[in-house]
Amino acid sequence: MPIRRPAATPDAGAPRHTPSRRATPRRYLMCAPDHFRVTYSINPWMDPSKPVDLALARTQWEDLRDRYRALGHTVELLTPRPDLPDMVFAANGATVIGGRVLGALFAYRERYAEAEAHRHWFGAHGFTEIREPEHVNEGEGDFAVTSSYLLAGRGFRSSPLSHGEAQEFFGRPVIGLDLVDPRYYHLDTALCVLDEAGDEVMYYPGAFSAGSRSVLARLFPHALVAREPDAAALGLNAVSDGLHVLLPQAATGLFDPLRERGFDPVPMDLGELLKGGGSVKCCTQELRL
Ligand code: ARG
Repeated sequence: MPIRRPAATPDAGAPRHTPSRRATPRRYLMCAPDHFRVTYSINPWMDPSKPVDLALARTQWEDLRDRYRALGHTVELLTPRPDLPDMVFAANGATVIGGRVLGALFAYRERYAEAEAHRHWFGAHGFTEIREPEHVNEGEGDFAVTSSYLLAGRGFRSSPLSHGEAQEFFGRPVIGLDLVDPRYYHLDTALCVLDEAGDEVMYYPGAFSAGSRSVLARLFPHALVAREPDAAALGLNAVSDGLHVLLPQAATGLFDPLRERGFDPVPMDLGELLKGGGSVKCCTQELRL
C-alpha cells in the first residue's frame, strides 16, 4: 500500500523546536517622504480627500530609518523628487540580488519616472549589472526572496511576463502567486520573508487564489499564517533581519506568534504612510550584495 502523507495545511503550526535566531546586517535603500501626498488613487487605501500630515509622515519615516541604523543596518538614501509623491515607497523601484539590479517598470503612469530615478542611483553607486525591464514589475512590491525561490506576485501590478524575465536575470526559480484581493495589491502587503536562509515566511491566505494558497501551504508548511485583522493593518508589510521583525504596530495579533518562533517583533507607527497604501516594507528596498 502506498504510504499516504497528510496534505500540508496552512495550520500545520510552528516547528516543534524554536530555532535560535540571529540578525544579519542589511543594506537598505530608502527615500524620505518630503513630497509625499495622496493626490491620486491607484489602490484602495488611497483617498485623495483625506488630509496627510506631512510633518508626522516625516517623523514616522525617520523613526523607521533610525531604528534600522540602531539595529546595525546600513541605510542608503535616494533623493526625493517633488513630482513623485509615492517615491517614499522605495521597495517598488528595483529588485537587487547578488548585486544584480532588475529595474522596475511601473503599472501606472503616475509612478513611471521613479524607475529611472532608481536606475540612476544604482548607476551612480557602483552597480554595473542593471537591467531595464521589458515587462511591468514593481520591484520588491511583488518580488520576495528566499534562499530557494523568488516569490513573485501578479494580478494587480506586476505582469506575469515579468516572472520569466526575473527568473532568467537572477537564475532563481520563480514561484508565481496570484493576488485576488485589491487591498493586497502587491505581494509584500500579504507575505513577508522572515528568514530567507530557512525559507520561513508569514502570509495572509485570503489575499491569494485557491491554487496559490495550495502552493504556499506546500512550500511553507510551517509558515506563520496571519489572520484578517492583522493583514488589514498591513501587518505583513514587514521587514525581518533574521531576528527583529519591524512591522506596523496595529498588527498586534502577530506579536506572540512571532515570539513563539524566536523572532523579536518591533512595532512601528507608519500611520500617515498607510494613507498611501504602504507601511514598513514598502518604504524599504533591500540591497542584496
Ligand atoms: N501608493 C503606492 C502605490 O499604490 C503604494 C506602494 C506601496 N508599496 C509596496 N511595496 N506595497 O503604488
